[in-house]
Amino acid sequence: MNVLVVGATGDVGSEAAKFAVAGGHTVRALVRSTSNRDKLGEAKTRVEFFEGDMLDTASLEQALTGIDAIIVSIRLTPGETKKGRTYKDVEEQGIQNLIEVGKKKGVKKIIHVSAAGVGPHCVSDMYGAKHQAEEAIRNSGLDYTIFKPSGMFKDFRFFHIPAVIKLGETSTWPTSPIEFHMNPLSHVDLAQCMADALTNPKASYKTLEIGGPDTITQGDLLDMIAKEAGINAHYTKGVSKEDLIARVKSSPQPAFFTAEQLEDFLIDKEIDHGIIQNIFGIKFQRVSDFLKKAVPEIKAAMSQGAPQPH
Ligand SMILES: NC(=O)c1ccc[n+]([C@@H]2O[C@H](COP(=O)([O-])OP(=O)(O)OC[C@H]3O[C@@H](n4cnc5c(N)ncnc54)[C@H](OP(=O)(O)O)[C@@H]3O)[C@@H](O)[C@H]2O)c1
Repeated sequence: MNVLVVGATGDVGSEAAKFAVAGGHTVRALVRSTSNRDKLGEAKTRVEFFEGDMLDTASLEQALTGIDAIIVSIRLTPGETKKGRTYKDVEEQGIQNLIEVGKKKGVKKIIHVSAAGVGPHCVSDMYGAKHQAEEAIRNSGLDYTIFKPSGMFKDFRFFHIPAVIKLGETSTWPTSPIEFHMNPLSHVDLAQCMADALTNPKASYKTLEIGGPDTITQGDLLDMIAKEAGINAHYTKGVSKEDLIARVKSSPQPAFFTAEQLEDFLIDKEIDHGIIQNIFGIKFQRVSDFLKKAVPEIKAAMSQGAPQPH
């Protein structure tokens, strides 16, 4: 299959491109002049790079020539925000552009990443754009697979693990509620499913919530990190969603996440991993195996004052 990967220099997209190459597909990557092509590792030499932008439809006309399927894993990055672009521009209009030009060019299938919890009830600019993008894909007439992942291990690396190590012996998590459930997963496993969905008929015309095999609470995760780090901490108290949102609303400083985004993100969600297993049949990485490797790495990097791994 001839595949265009959009977001091929991102965390998820680069892994999906590698799996697509390994699966024998001919892969073209839509990149910008500033994109980090090294994210593709050894697959870099086996991918055709095409410079363009989702918001530049003329570039998409060329990028999509001869393409059978699109894998898209994009988000509004800080670089896009600096250009004055919004969630609506990149995460909604960008997808609509891919659909419109893709259909004209004879594309048959689109594989997309959204997020668990995205839906018509969402109130934030971020999840609103993601929902509209999902709807545009479902109504496009193209074959599609939309993946809606739970939290990913990669975020634990730069946030949860360093935070637990810094907090040390404690029972309070100052950042969020601890009782909500999640099914964290490796972005590499997600990417493998995305590449498999190119040809897997069981994934056709499906919107799939995707999580790993472990259903845990945020508190369980924090306790697991502490144990792995050799810290005598047991988390029994978090901050309620209501308090967190009130805190953001009353703060004179702009917060990292808006009140609306917190409203959408902070949900108690359990994903049925069995559905994903049945469709893709791959062995997903477990949280405990991820932490066994990641926690000592990050602890060592922090104790040497080195920049934390991402
Ligand atoms: N992290 C999580 O736990 C989590 C959970 C659920 C869902 N997700 C979703 O998963 C998706 C992938 O996330 P990620 O962490 O892999 O993202 P990422 O590493 O930040 O990658 C984003 C990619 O989008 C590309 N991009 C942005 N604007 C573009 C434009 N206008 N034209 C062309 N390319 C553009 C970027 O290109 P450049 O390299 O050129 O900037 C980059 O390759 C996102 O939609 C995210 O919301 C993540």
